[in-house]
Amino acid sequence: MNDPIKVTALVGTYRKGGMIDSAVDEILASAREEGAEVGKIYLVDKSIEFCTNCRACTQKPGERRGECPQHDEMAALLDELERSDAIILASSMNFWTVTAIMKRFMERLVCFAYWPWGQAGPKTRDTRRDKRAVVVCSSAAPAILARLRTRMSGLLKTAADLLGARTVGVLFMGLSAMKEHQKLSERQKRKARLLGKRLVGKG
Ligand SMILES: Cc1cc2nc3c(=O)[nH]c(=O)nc-3n(C[C@H](O)[C@H](O)[C@H](O)COP(=O)(O)O)c2cc1C
Repeated sequence: MNDPIKVTALVGTYRKGGMIDSAVDEILASAREEGAEVGKIYLVDKSIEFCTNCRACTQKPGERRGECPQHDEMAALLDELERSDAIILASSMNFWTVTAIMKRFMERLVCFAYWPWGQAGPKTRDTRRDKRAVVVCSSAAPAILARLRTRMSGLLKTAADLLGARTVGVLFMGLSAMKEHQKLSERQKRKARLLGKRLVGKG
């Protein structure tokens, strides 16, 4: 028998049980129904330092990500994402972009680039995209306005790219701050379930 597909969600909201968390749960439930092994990581629970721009992780050539001299939970988190066949990157929108904890995580992805001193810009070490990704965003603004006005889903897709994943779907949930304990609409649940199937190659 084949090993089950491993799906890992990286959750960048500050609110457990909020809109982003609920959408991620729905996607994971649907992937699990298709036989996937699923896991969820809350960035808010992880100790991750800011990138200091020392560029130590970008100096050595090679396909493998560079090593950061900071000792925190980032390396273990990246190992978990690299072991996954599919990933979900999810963030609520704060000040028209991803949350600060998601941005801090994204800056640390510079280790996937080769960028020695003397070279003008970074080059992605490994351009393969063997994994699948789904991107999830929520905003107080209507989705159409938030999508047109910002690059938020594009940023998360770029992060997915660096993690070796091709984005197969985006769930952008506008009007997500109407109630303190807002629930997903039936439409949002349907889309989330569809994306869960797509993540595991069905649907
Ligand atoms: C500090 C802060 C900044 C926010 N900035 C924006 C914003 O710029 N645009 C927007 O549409 N919503 C903004 N929001 C609303 C959040 O995006 C919304 O509450 C969130 O998407 C709900 O998801 P959650 O339940 O997972 O937290 C902001 C909320 C907070 C607390």
